[in-house]
Amino acid sequence: MSLPTFLTVSGSLRAGSFNTAILEHFAQFADGKAGVVHSRYLGELPLYNQDLDNDTPPAVVAAARAEIAASDFVVVATPEYNYGIPGPLKNWFDWMSRPYGAHVFLGKKVFVIGSAPSPRGGKNAVEYLRLGFTAIQAVVVGDEVLLPNIHETLNAAKSSEDTTLTTVFQHILQSCQ
Ligand SMILES: Cc1cc2nc3c(=O)[nH]c(=O)nc-3n(C[C@H](O)[C@H](O)[C@H](O)COP(=O)(O)O)c2cc1C
Repeated sequence: MSLPTFLTVSGSLRAGSFNTAILEHFAQFADGKAGVVHSRYLGELPLYNQDLDNDTPPAVVAAARAEIAASDFVVVATPEYNYGIPGPLKNWFDWMSRPYGAHVFLGKKVFVIGSAPSPRGGKNAVEYLRLGFTAIQAVVVGDEVLLPNIHETLNAAKSSEDTTLTTVFQHILQSCQ
């Protein structure tokens, strides 16, 4: 039987991003249980412009849509920026939510993680995304996951005794079936 496939998407373009690090840990955790591909398109997409969003959209847009279509599940990990979602992630979300009623997220199962060094854990971004994905008829699965003080959690993950991340990753795999 073939393994389920996950596309992971980080809301941060930062090289040292905690959210990207979470997704790298997830890929390691899922090794042998699922195929995991990390999206690299967020920083490459043009700013959304409805005039460009026609039957022949920019090639990078088509490629970003295709990697979603090719995946069984999508996992997004993101910080919040100024109590909203980061601009590049919103831009990606807008491109991927079209064509209206015929986009690649229709019925797609999506798991959302928020994380930040602050105690807020990306709360507003997660709330927005869970609502937004539901609005475009994706299927949001799993609990609301917020990871505050993520720098400490990632440090602790180096010790096998810390189970914060592995508990989340198990929840993802159980929710995405
Ligand atoms: C423009 C900007 C706005 C931010 N706004 C918030 C915020 O509203 N709430 C919060 O908890 N952290 C906020 N932060 C701090 C981020 O959570 C922190 O930089 C985090 O490490 C970014 O995620 P990353 O590590 O995945 O890049 C903001 C950071 C930036 C650069």
